[in-house]
Amino acid sequence: MQLLEATDKNIAIAAEVIKRGGLVSFPTETVYGLGADGLNPIASAKIFEAKNRPSFNPLILHIALIETLNEIAEWKNPNIEKLVSKFWPGPLTIVLPKKKIVPEIVTAGNPTVAVRMPGHKVALELIKLSGCPIAAPSANRFGQLSPTDAQHVVKQLKNKVDIILNGGKSAVGVESTILEITDEKIYLLRPGGLTLEEIESVVGKVETKVHSAAKPNSPGQLPFHYSPLIPLKFLNEENLDEYKNKKIGAILFKNSSEKNNFAVERVLSPKGDLREAAANLFAYLHELEKENIDIILIEPVEETGLGRAIMDRLRKASNKFI
Ligand code: TXA
Ligand code: MG
Repeated sequence: MQLLEATDKNIAIAAEVIKRGGLVSFPTETVYGLGADGLNPIASAKIFEAKNRPSFNPLILHIALIETLNEIAEWKNPNIEKLVSKFWPGPLTIVLPKKKIVPEIVTAGNPTVAVRMPGHKVALELIKLSGCPIAAPSANRFGQLSPTDAQHVVKQLKNKVDIILNGGKSAVGVESTILEITDEKIYLLRPGGLTLEEIESVVGKVETKVHSAAKPNSPGQLPFHYSPLIPLKFLNEENLDEYKNKKIGAILFKNSSEKNNFAVERVLSPKGDLREAAANLFAYLHELEKENIDIILIEPVEETGLGRAIMDRLRKASNKFI
């Protein structure tokens, strides 16, 4: 594994690795991705192996040019044009009927493909130089915390990737919002870095699709995910009482005057801004995972704007420990 600064020269080296069927972890504005040539089934298969990810969980294809969308997906719904012209490049993934050129392994046998144009110049440059859409999940081991800087990737995937491009901290900090778009309808599959409010201001009301274990190809089909190695629960009176004699790592939403004697404490956004909180969420969980504590207690946030994505990740992270 090589950890390289994301200079022009190193992006070009990384693109050669992608072209040869290798694995490159690269920065995006949401989280770091673990990328491979998305039209090469063998290269894409390596992603599942590296992450230890179940092969029924499909990958997102990352593109740099809008023309590429027409090469890999079919679409008619005029709302798609509105959405991508407004929000791409950016933290929005759309799920559309796939074209034949997209390998089955990328879509996990689904007739649809997930596509996103990331809002990060290193990612866009890498895709352009590679000359193919890049298939990439978040660059973490399956079920563990998503990476928002290059060191997080080193920690989890050190010997599993050819190159990690270091492009600093991801500005958004939670994964993209995923919409499934049919000819008539738009469904929210995963809340993420683009808020539902912003989406609805362009296309009107969007329905949320609820997932079930019986339909394993939807995102979030697994009841737990994004979990730190130390148990995580929501901070409430009951949990505070239960763990009062234990070493608590607390993650608070904003500054408060209340004094608690936590072993470790982080504040997601001192002024209570959900954007800042989302950007810090995974980084603080990665930090606390390394501390000598018994439990992580995290304060719930309001479910509006980016609060939806934050609470979605935290519910899945805490489910593992119920
Ligand atoms: O922000 C992001 O989306 C990051 C960066 C790297 O772009 N990527 C990411 O990938 O979060 P991943 O694999 O960790 O999450 C992608 C989700 C999965 O839950 C998967 O089930 C869903 O997208 N997905 C992919 N293709 C799909 C499809 N055809 N239909 C429904 N869901 C799909
Ligand atoms: Mg992921």
